[in-house]
Amino acid sequence: MAVMNPAANLVMVGPMGAGKSCIGRRLAERFDLRFVDVDQVIVAQAGVSISDIFQNAGEAAFRAQEREVLVGLMAGSGQLISTGGGAVLDPDNRRLLAERGFVVYLAVGVQAQLRRLARDRQRPLLLHPDRERLLHELAVARAPLYRQIADLTLNTDHLSPAEATAQLVLQLAAQWQILSTPA
Ligand code: S3P
Repeated sequence: MAVMNPAANLVMVGPMGAGKSCIGRRLAERFDLRFVDVDQVIVAQAGVSISDIFQNAGEAAFRAQEREVLVGLMAGSGQLISTGGGAVLDPDNRRLLAERGFVVYLAVGVQAQLRRLARDRQRPLLLHPDRERLLHELAVARAPLYRQIADLTLNTDHLSPAEATAQLVLQLAAQWQILSTPA
């Protein structure tokens, strides 16, 4: 019998540059789940980039769209849902993700984030004059929120996407096996 996700969906949470989309895409293929990136859905619906949404409508408007998209997606099942780094800020989002998903927290340190995101021009929050300080502040505020809903945590600092995926496949299969075995 193939091991099955005990929850309706598999969800990736964690900071920018942790590898949520890249690793999520690989995991989705491995477990035969439909890959969905929340940011991509928002961009497709709005018809403009995330930076444009932040600039023209403000972060609060982006968060409202993010919430709406999450509510719609989490009603479904059989998906691997990659969330934006700030999706966990809203307590209702956290409740929804925990209820309808098996949540993987991809953790990453600030130095690895700075390396991976060095050339990024897409993420509005990174337009900050002091990226390192900003990423530290986000980590302090958000790490407890990621931890609060995580069913499994993996630090990707020293892992390639292929290595991180391989580790997660093993760990998820082991956890799902335990959860699906009758006591
Ligand atoms: C954000 C992270 C981004 C995106 C938006 C805001 C955040 O997603 O949702 O720029 O608040 O950390 P990624 O985590 O996929 O980069």
